[in-house]
Amino acid sequence: MTTSNATRGGVGNARAGANFALIKYWGKADAVLNTPAVGSISITLDTLYTDTEIVFDATLARDELVLNGKRRDEDVDKISACLDLLRKPRGVTTRARVTSRNNFPTGAGLASSASGFAALVRAAEVALGLNLTPRERSIVARQGSGSAARSIFGGFVEMYAGTASDGSDSFAEPLLAADAWPLEVVIAVTAKGEKEIGSRSGMTRSATSSPYYPAWVAGQTADLATARVAIAARDFAALADVAEHNCLKMHAAAMATQPPLVYWNGATVECLHAVRRLRADGVPVFFTIDAGPQVKAVCEPGARSRVEAVLRDVPGVLDLLTSRLGPGAEPT
Ligand code: PMV
Repeated sequence: MTTSNATRGGVGNARAGANFALIKYWGKADAVLNTPAVGSISITLDTLYTDTEIVFDATLARDELVLNGKRRDEDVDKISACLDLLRKPRGVTTRARVTSRNNFPTGAGLASSASGFAALVRAAEVALGLNLTPRERSIVARQGSGSAARSIFGGFVEMYAGTASDGSDSFAEPLLAADAWPLEVVIAVTAKGEKEIGSRSGMTRSATSSPYYPAWVAGQTADLATARVAIAARDFAALADVAEHNCLKMHAAAMATQPPLVYWNGATVECLHAVRRLRADGVPVFFTIDAGPQVKAVCEPGARSRVEAVLRDVPGVLDLLTSRLGPGAEPT
């Protein structure tokens, strides 16, 4: 059934929203299983997403990827490894043509790999006629990109690091629905190119050479617990404090890596100060920054226009993107 779907040339389409972490993932427990060294908590976005179509085609000798209209042969191995997790146990050998489009800048610290692999898993599931559980989807997506395990779900999401040697307890689960606490996001884009050092190699380098890496890992359980309580209580001030603290610890560990990982530019730092000044003035907003120079400002809905106005005026800000919290990855 499954195999014949594939050899007949099954087609699947899916959309997945980008996510970013409020309590970050930085460091791997196992490079092959791609299990994280620490748990994380994220929010999934509704207006930044990846649309993916996958066509299993018996005439193909290898998988193919077209991303944003360009062939990306250099990324095919990662796609193939992820698809093999679905193909191999079912005896499927058919190769696939994957056509994917991000509606936001790719590879610049805006979680394109998260939405990309989540959409890939959902689209492949449809094309192969599978019926995976949400947990199975999350586990397969994790092996494509750690943060992709979270984009399977909408709203607030928690990712567990897990301890099992086969990675079976390393998956994400929903924590709170998007409409239960409708926070909003303003992203200050301060550079548009793809980043030089991807998170995968960056975090591996941090683990072996940053003197702050052990402290980063040791503090995560407490930060996760604080954030969980803050989210359950919709306590914005508490979430703001722990999210900024966690973000700065991740970047401190990254910066102390050898050779160093400085993901920020000048505008990143100016945005960070602008957000802190706003909060000191009583505006409910906090920042977070991933492995790139963009600043994500999370705010209560009533504060969004003020946050946008302030960040737009920061020298070096090229563009603002806004979003609400969005749904999990779904077939389209
Ligand atoms: O999933 P990856 O390998 O792209 O790593 C994500 C790392 C950060 O974005 C910096 C943090 C996170 O939790 O998303």
